[in-house]
Amino acid sequence: MSTYLIAFVVSDFKYISAKDKKGVLVGIWARKKAIEDGQGNYALKITQPILEFFEKYYNTSYPLSKSGMTMIKNKTEPWKTGVLSLTERRLFYTIRRRLPMATILFASHSLPSDLCGFASYVEYLGADYAEPTWDMKDQTILYDLQRAFAVDSLTSSHPLSRKEEEVNTPSEISEMFNTISYSKGAAVLKMLSEFLTEPVFAKGLSVSLTFAFGSSVYTDLWDHLQKAVDQTPGVKLPYSVHEIMNRWILQMGFPVITIDTRTGNVSQKHFLLEPEAVVDRKSEFNYEWFVPIKWMKKQQVQDQLWLLQKSALHKPMKVSKNEWVLANLHVSGYFRVNYDLGNWERLLSQLESGHQVIPVVNRAQILDDAFNLARASIINITLALRTTKYLLHERKYIPWEAALRNLNYFFQLFDRSEVYGAMQAYLKKQVKPLFEYFGNISSNWTLFFVLRFTQIIALSLACSTGVEGCRELTRNWFKKWMQNPHNNVIHPNLRSTVYCNAIAAGGAEEWNFGWQMFQKATVAAEAVKLRSALACTKVPWLLNRYLEYTMNPEKIRKQDATSTIGYIASNIIGQSLAWDFVRANWDYFFKMYGTGSFSFSRLISDITYRFCTPFELSQLKRFQKDNAETGFGSGTRALQQAIEKTTAKIKWLAENKEPVHQWFLSESA
Ligand SMILES: *[C@@H]1O[C@H](CO)[C@@H](O)[C@H](O)[C@H]1NC(C)=O
Ligand SMILES: *[C@@H]1O[C@H](CO)[C@@H](O)[C@H](O)[C@H]1NC(C)=O
Ligand SMILES: *[C@@H]1O[C@H](CO)[C@@H](O)[C@H](O)[C@H]1NC(C)=O
Ligand SMILES: *[C@@H]1O[C@H](CO)[C@@H](O)[C@H](O)[C@H]1NC(C)=O
Ligand SMILES: *[C@@H]1O[C@H](CO)[C@@H](O)[C@H](O)[C@H]1NC(C)=O
Ligand SMILES: *[C@@H]1O[C@H](CO)[C@@H](O)[C@H](O)[C@H]1NC(C)=O
Repeated sequence: MSTYLIAFVVSDFKYISAKDKKGVLVGIWARKKAIEDGQGNYALKITQPILEFFEKYYNTSYPLSKSGMTMIKNKTEPWKTGVLSLTERRLFYTIRRRLPMATILFASHSLPSDLCGFASYVEYLGADYAEPTWDMKDQTILYDLQRAFAVDSLTSSHPLSRKEEEVNTPSEISEMFNTISYSKGAAVLKMLSEFLTEPVFAKGLSVSLTFAFGSSVYTDLWDHLQKAVDQTPGVKLPYSVHEIMNRWILQMGFPVITIDTRTGNVSQKHFLLEPEAVVDRKSEFNYEWFVPIKWMKKQQVQDQLWLLQKSALHKPMKVSKNEWVLANLHVSGYFRVNYDLGNWERLLSQLESGHQVIPVVNRAQILDDAFNLARASIINITLALRTTKYLLHERKYIPWEAALRNLNYFFQLFDRSEVYGAMQAYLKKQVKPLFEYFGNISSNWTLFFVLRFTQIIALSLACSTGVEGCRELTRNWFKKWMQNPHNNVIHPNLRSTVYCNAIAAGGAEEWNFGWQMFQKATVAAEAVKLRSALACTKVPWLLNRYLEYTMNPEKIRKQDATSTIGYIASNIIGQSLAWDFVRANWDYFFKMYGTGSFSFSRLISDITYRFCTPFELSQLKRFQKDNAETGFGSGTRALQQAIEKTTAKIKWLAENKEPVHQWFLSESA
């Protein structure tokens, strides 16, 4: 095991524990108050079914006599004693995507660091088993695939697998536990399990875990999976698992698959967000992949196609007038898809006339692909915008979330320009039915569990675009709470949105009330909601004061400072304040967070997220130059990415701002 995975914890925490059926002692350690308030109970309860699931899944008994989880302030990776360290927030999360990470115990005690994507992937399987109604598996496309796409489409990306000798300093270690290793790792393994089929995948894994305690690497895993393939009649691969997977893990990036339904021509190309980007990292595979393509036409699932070269003619994909082809069915592959214009048109009209025919994850992926293809200037932006028209009828979470993320990017690009008004009007029109739908099914916004994520979106988008009734609703809830601080009637899952809207609409009084409640909060999740909502105010002096608080650990704990600045930077008024603040106090932030800290690269991307003008680019470059001597530690890559992204946006805006403005105007009329 790598030495940097070991840690010792000395604490005055309390714990709760229980033995599972097989006698494994499960324990949760945390602050005394948190344990007394019962905040560890869920983690304790959920750990057992998850361990059980993995025992079945891998056909391997859990090898240790105990399994513990605790929280520590800064992140390290799980280690072999069966103790898992989490931030408190994560340990107690009940609503967000991840269950307590007990799920990854099985994988993590045996796998090398470059397999952390593996942990991410199987984590969902365990979670899906423990909470089947949460659609956790589908959500991997939001939390892994799309997140990985975003960074892996930049030239500053890197291959998934790195040689051990390249990893030496704390910042290099920290950088390794990034989006690429977790999210791309998970997405690529999901693809593998889809084309091998789940039983073969699980069989291969269980063998590899039996040999687990050595320092295995991907290669070993491929060997075991290959054996499983060889022993299973009916599973045929065009190449070995090694040959197929090497292309996905030893070269960075991923392809966009283009299907021309007029001819049946299928081709691949390395997808780069910046159209004219030059990749200076050589790949022995020439940025070509062996691509398993699942697809459907005429509403029928077709045989999987393997694209094994740059392009190939696949006659079944040639379709006549009214049919459409949908590729990457159930989003099982790690690639984007583009079509000829005719097929795009037919898909769009299918979405508007009967979107249920297309699987929900594909609806989300069509949106995400279209917007990103447009950002890369591969398709016209108006085509991407048209994928949002059907949302009028959409009631599911995943497509709305995908749309919102891409539209958020638009918000950031346009909220300081004249496009904003028309865009607001269009979105208001789109979200109104969703908002009313929830209003109608539960007039007091009681939560229906499965719908909860969509409700949050409905509420936040409706309030931010000014749908009638939304702001009043949230303001009243908040006012009631201010009148009676001991009785907060706002449903926990809606609180983030309600707090943010109320504080944005209010002044110092609302802010100070929120601050008081933040200081008193004993539940970690509640404290996070308040801390982020406090950044929503539109009052500059309140924002500046809040920024100052981040340098005072008595007000904002050290581990929360950088994310607090990130929240402030996501506010249109807070953005420039945060940027100035961090630059002015650069020495402090670098000294406190610059080495070996996850949050540091996040800080840099947060404060530069909205940058899209030549002036901002020059500021960014200047910043890089001015601090060249101190350096950027674990944020080095993040800074490089910020420069790339800003450059790309400037260019994109020059070509697309006007068509976008026109489109929103015509659609909101
Ligand atoms: C699980 O492991 C046991 C022995 O450890 C073996 O007999 C059994 O066949 C395995 N089951 C599967 C599905 O591989
Ligand atoms: C298929 O499309 C690719 C990419 O546009 C092109 O290079 C190739 O020549 C086409 N093949 C055929 C048979 O039309
Ligand atoms: C995109 O399409 C719109 C309308 O269809 C058109 O006005 C615009 O010129 C197109 N933009 C590009 C870059 O082709
Ligand atoms: C919600 O109720 C209003 C008034 O009762 C009605 O006009 C509207 O059509 C309903 N909306 C939905 C989406 O059911
Ligand atoms: C909200 O509505 C539900 C069902 O309509 C009802 O049971 C519940 O008491 C209501 N809650 C409040 C706070 O009014
Ligand atoms: C954890 O935090 C402590 C003090 O806050 C710091 O000295 C240490 O370097 C951090 N460790 C890691 C791995 O970030």
